[in-house]
Amino acid sequence: MSDLFTPYRIGPIEIRNRTIRSAAFEGMCEHNSPSQELFDYHTAVARGGIGMTTVAYAAVCRSGLSFERQLWMRPEIVPDLKKLTDAIHAEGAKASIQLGHCGNMSHRRICGCRPYGASRGFNLYSPTFVHKMNLREIDEVVEAYGKAVELAIESGFDAVEIHAGHGYLISQFLSPYTNHRKDGYGGSLENRMRFMRRCMESVVKAGKGRVAIFVKMNTRDGFKGGMEVEDSITVARELQKCGADALVLSGGFVSRAPMYVMRGQFPVRSIVHYMPWSQWWLKAGVLLGGRIVSPTVPFKRLYFLEDAMKFRQALPDMPLVYVGGVTTRKDADKVIDCGFQMLQMGRAVLEDTDFVNKMKADENCCSGCEHSNFCIGRMYTLSMACHKTCKDITPALERNVQKTIRQNDRMERKLGYK
Ligand SMILES: Cc1cc2nc3c(=O)[nH]c(=O)nc-3n(C[C@H](O)[C@H](O)[C@H](O)COP(=O)(O)O)c2cc1C
Ligand code: SF4
Repeated sequence: MSDLFTPYRIGPIEIRNRTIRSAAFEGMCEHNSPSQELFDYHTAVARGGIGMTTVAYAAVCRSGLSFERQLWMRPEIVPDLKKLTDAIHAEGAKASIQLGHCGNMSHRRICGCRPYGASRGFNLYSPTFVHKMNLREIDEVVEAYGKAVELAIESGFDAVEIHAGHGYLISQFLSPYTNHRKDGYGGSLENRMRFMRRCMESVVKAGKGRVAIFVKMNTRDGFKGGMEVEDSITVARELQKCGADALVLSGGFVSRAPMYVMRGQFPVRSIVHYMPWSQWWLKAGVLLGGRIVSPTVPFKRLYFLEDAMKFRQALPDMPLVYVGGVTTRKDADKVIDCGFQMLQMGRAVLEDTDFVNKMKADENCCSGCEHSNFCIGRMYTLSMACHKTCKDITPALERNVQKTIRQNDRMERKLGYK
């Protein structure tokens, strides 16, 4: 038996066990505001025994929005967020919110301006040209991080999770793949960390000691030319110095190596199925080029463990959170036994909101999620939902999901992952 079901104190809060529902974009925030669907979903996760649930992917300001159904932090949504955190607390869980900025992945129509990033480029998803952030825009985003933390505190959240990975804005500054700046924010790693440091100063000033400050970061970007483990360890040390309470160790880059984040196949069919016909050109593009742009990265249980262990060794006194491929009670125990203070789960809890209670009751408990990634495909246009409970799945789409599951199984057996 590991310490999985023992409480853990982090910053100013105590969490009832070591499990966290990872930030997995719900797509439940029409008009960029919380909805009944979001409320019901997170309440169910809290009831399912999780230690803390994370509301995903809230933009710190409008310019950081990528989706129509994505949260945007602003004073008018505080009363509804407060109802949400009250309901989560009533179930005995803690509430966290992921705060970020999509940078060069922001959507022109939704974010209300021409998207910007660390450097100029082209956003295939929008699709539009992206400009290099000027110093005023940098100052504005830095300030927005602090304001978003204040709003999260007002809304009753116990923790914030700063998104510094997956190729979103902070990660775009860190990565040599997206940062080609010649000023004090580009070039050496020291310079590329400057934007992150400034955002963290703003976050820490607003929230240190009032909420637990988690930072989700990359162990590596997942492709040649991106951040590798050695530099990421330097980033982790810097985050510790900046005042982060805990680091969540992930990887991957949405614009370049999205499946490195989650593993398995890019869900081309479900993305294309739910996309509106008004975006026929994007539908056609994803159908023809989706698998080329986002190649399959085979799924393996605990797929980030090897890299995460390097961080465990390099930062002995920093609380670390494991994420990636936790699918059984035994996996969860192993992660805690390896020295991680907490673990996050995305799909296992998405497939079954009661998964944590089931793990507690049965040490042989195993998730029914087969990483088909249908949920990801649907999330791009509608809300995230598992194919097993989704009401609008068509027979053809269900057949495609089953085919994906068979293909995954064959590939993983061939590679010796199963
Ligand atoms: C539907 C879905 C949406 C996701 N959205 C986000 C997100 O908004 N922010 C984030 O940091 N990670 C996101 N992720 C990644 C997860 O948080 C997690 O890092 C990843 O799925 C690996 O964990 P798992 O194997 O337990 O699912 C998402 C994953 C899924 C399946
Ligand atoms: S849709 Fe597939 S990947 Fe997503 S939770 Fe369900 S089984 Fe898991």
